[in-house]
Amino acid sequence: MKDEEYMKLALELAGRGVGRTSPNPMVGAVIVKAGRVIGQGWHRRYGGLHGEREALADCRESPRGAVLYVTLEPCCHTGKQPPCTEAILESGISRVVTGSRDPNPLVSGKGIKYLRDHGIQVDEGILKDECDGLNYVFFHYISTGRPYVVMKYAMTMDGKIATRTGQSQWITGENARRRVHEDRHRYSAIMAGVGTVLQDNPSLTCRMEHGVNPVRIICDSRLRTPVDAEVVLTARSVPTILATCCREEGRYKPYVNAGCRILPLPSTEGGVDLKELTNRLGREGIDSILLEGGGTLNWSSLESGIVSRVQAYIAPKIFGGGAAKSPVGGLGTSCPDHGFRLKNSRVTALGGDFLIESEVDNHVYGNC
Ligand SMILES: NC(=O)c1ccc[n+]([C@@H]2O[C@H](COP(=O)([O-])OP(=O)(O)OC[C@H]3O[C@@H](n4cnc5c(N)ncnc54)[C@H](OP(=O)(O)O)[C@@H]3O)[C@@H](O)[C@H]2O)c1
Repeated sequence: MKDEEYMKLALELAGRGVGRTSPNPMVGAVIVKAGRVIGQGWHRRYGGLHGEREALADCRESPRGAVLYVTLEPCCHTGKQPPCTEAILESGISRVVTGSRDPNPLVSGKGIKYLRDHGIQVDEGILKDECDGLNYVFFHYISTGRPYVVMKYAMTMDGKIATRTGQSQWITGENARRRVHEDRHRYSAIMAGVGTVLQDNPSLTCRMEHGVNPVRIICDSRLRTPVDAEVVLTARSVPTILATCCREEGRYKPYVNAGCRILPLPSTEGGVDLKELTNRLGREGIDSILLEGGGTLNWSSLESGIVSRVQAYIAPKIFGGGAAKSPVGGLGTSCPDHGFRLKNSRVTALGGDFLIESEVDNHVYGNC
């Protein structure tokens, strides 16, 4: 087999850590000796062994003289685990093949240099695009210190996210909804506005088998969330943050007693200061947010520049109704040449529905 094929296997292993390694990257590793895979592993969960050490522990014969394929440059600093570069050196591995360079300034290039300085052959950049693509959240988080925000909505073919009476459950079919729950497992947090809580009373949990619930964040500047809302009633079992501009601490008590955390923040024109909110969440180790807001929060989120990716689930239905809401509200742009530009779009068919995913292009936005 060629280097690329072993790296593909390492990538497949890395992906098994999805939703459990945050804020660390997903990493897979394969050890090959005389054309045979003798060990393989992946970073299973945050705080656990790194992929390289998992693969070494899995070896059924001595790795001396073997080749290690690893999706990300091995670390050379002590974090939750000792440096992988030392374990590689001790094992007697003679060649290391890597995919991504670690964007972490503590590591970048230093892990590779350490290995080379100790006489190990290192070949870099095998399936680099695929390896970088796997860890887009980690790359964003390490370089900005803020969570990667994915704005997700489900709409009809006439661009409605609810009927004229405000009902939105359900717009898409089962396959699309299953995919949403995989993403609730994948990303660390989920965010909605109080408008959605008042209208839909959602639980915002992950209903995937063995899935991990994201931390729930409700943007609620005036603390209008009902104390008997589903997100409040279940706050003891699923971490729930009410991001608010309300400073009347006496009003916090019923939420705090129910297990919610109140996060007081400065206000902006639309409500909670979203830039400051993401700065705070980033400092607390939240690397990603699935934004399932209504149109009001979606617009503010785009305008404040916190959104990196948009996911539009489109159902082949038409609701009609001038008053029925669309995915993005706010003031909107006046000129068709302006608006937020999206790039690198991908379309996936999910049962009878479609998912269009695009990246936000440097938050280019303007009016005529
Ligand atoms: N189909 C879908 O994918 C989908 C998903 C979600 C929701 N929905 C539908 O969307 C509708 C609700 O939409 P919505 O626009 O009323 O609700 P929303 O966007 O979820 O919530 C808006 C509210 O959030 C609060 N907020 C706090 N900080 C904010 C900020 N920085 N920017 C904007 N808002 C902020 C504001 O209330 P305060 O000023 O009181 O804080 C604001 O009125 C419902 O009908 C729901 O069913 C559909």
